Amino acid sequence: VSGPQRTFNPESIFSFSFLACYQGFDPVAYLHYNYTPPRADFEGRSIVPWKLSCLHKAFTEGEGDILVDVGSGPTLYQVMSGCERFDRVILSDFLEVNRKVLQSWLQEGKSSIDWTAYFKYVCELEGRR
Ligand SMILES: C[S@@+](CC[C@H](N)C(=O)[O-])C[C@H]1O[C@@H](n2cnc3c(N)ncnc32)[C@H](O)[C@@H]1O
Repeated sequence: VSGPQRTFNPESIFSFSFLACYQGFDPVAYLHYNYTPPRADFEGRSIVPWKLSCLHKAFTEGEGDILVDVGSGPTLYQVMSGCERFDRVILSDFLEVNRKVLQSWLQEGKSSIDWTAYFKYVCELEGRR
């Protein structure tokens, strides 16, 4: 969280044991394991299309000014449907490594996995090709 007067680092307020369980978290390995085949695909029995459908349904039932995603991790598939319903989307995560992955993707267009299939699926849910 940044403000004109100070910068707040969420890692500074959590206990050592909480920090220890997240130590060494590898966002690239997490993305590859959870969000590429075989664990994630759009043809088999993956949970991914179901998650995107649930999110789409949830977001079509509401809209607003600001969407705050707490604990985004290194992903933003979870707000793809929300982007059309909210004026601003705020992503957040406890870990700096995850925030850096999001910044790299949003500011430089760099991602360690290809999210095209996710965007296509969400566009189809929204009736767009
Ligand atoms: C289950 S992961 C979800 C990641 C991603 N959105 C996904 O769907 O794969 C939860 C995330 O919440 C973050 N987190 C845990 N405790 C948090 C807290 N108190 N405040 C902010 N983020 C937190 C973790 O760093 C982790 O990346």
